[in-house]
Amino acid sequence: MRPAVVYELLKTDKETGARAGIIHTPHGSFPTPMFMPVGTLATVKTLSPEELKEMGSGIILSNTYHLWLRPGHELIREAGGLHKFMNWDQPILTDSGGFQVFSLSKIRDIKEEGVHFRSHLDGSKLFLSPEKAIEIQEALGSDIMMSFDECPPYPASREYMIQSMARTTRWAERGLKAHTTMDKQSLFGIVQGGVYSDLRQQHAKELASLDFPGYSIGGLSVGEEKHLMNEALEATTPFLPADKPRYLMGVGSPDALIDGVIRGIDMFDCVLPTRIARNGTTMTSQGRVVIKNAIYERDFGPLDPNCDCHVCKNYSRAYLRHLIKAKEAFGIRLTSYHNLYFLIKLMEDVREAIMEDRLLAFREEFFEQYGYNKE
Ligand code: GUN
Ligand code: ZN
Repeated sequence: MRPAVVYELLKTDKETGARAGIIHTPHGSFPTPMFMPVGTLATVKTLSPEELKEMGSGIILSNTYHLWLRPGHELIREAGGLHKFMNWDQPILTDSGGFQVFSLSKIRDIKEEGVHFRSHLDGSKLFLSPEKAIEIQEALGSDIMMSFDECPPYPASREYMIQSMARTTRWAERGLKAHTTMDKQSLFGIVQGGVYSDLRQQHAKELASLDFPGYSIGGLSVGEEKHLMNEALEATTPFLPADKPRYLMGVGSPDALIDGVIRGIDMFDCVLPTRIARNGTTMTSQGRVVIKNAIYERDFGPLDPNCDCHVCKNYSRAYLRHLIKAKEAFGIRLTSYHNLYFLIKLMEDVREAIMEDRLLAFREEFFEQYGYNKE
């Protein structure tokens, strides 16, 4: 049977091997590389589905853990699934809850069967397992589901990583067995291994042998230095099948996106653009702009003169600064819109550069403009 989610390769950049492609899902297709906005609670904070479509977001991400706790996956099933519930008719990817249990819940107990922990909302006792994560994601009806995994902290010892990785593989196998909706949803395996290159390679091979329709790379951007993430990617992607999608989890800074694409990544997600937007920090072609700063008080020019989003076309830095300082809801809508547009447009430019075999030159130019080369 043809999997629900299929990767189509369009072009490989001659210098780097970066891929431009299309991912086909039951709710439509989107071009890759792609940045996916995060809609944890069935909403990308402050933005409407229409706005997301307008900015070219071909897919969004949501979270098993949060929706299970509130409003509950059975309620969403009753509503006709997550797409219908939130009025988003394009692809949705859901994370499995593994990462959220580890990042949100202070009290937890990892067992072979799954993880016992306390709700971050009311402290009640909860249990999440590979099977439960599949049950919830099947009720949500996301196009792309994630295996239940452990995202080990950084730093973690080699010994810990080896046993954690082995358990993540066993959990991945249990997820595959529990999955019943292969015609409508595809389950991705998650490669772990921390910053240990040989373990990354080993885990990539292990998961590849389980023949998932797609692969995620987890356990990165957890506090390690940038070069360590890049080395971990270099030890992973060559061992993943070339005809399946590859998703780097939780990464959203412009430099890491470009460097991830160069190492063969197709999809990214991160709360970064929307989170920093809500405290007034924006990403522009000239680097970060902290709009609250006094220097923007009388700056009547656009947020980013090189951006053609509706925020940059219609509103000034002075106005954005005023709204953010006054804590007006409209202010964070505008900064959120621009930041997401910025990353989605960056990926569009990256796709174009791949099609023309000039990704390295594009990287050089972008880093120079953004101010990374000065670091
Ligand atoms: N989001 C960011 N990193 C991870 C990870 O390692 N696992 C999961 N499930 N989600 C993530
Ligand atoms: Zn803009």
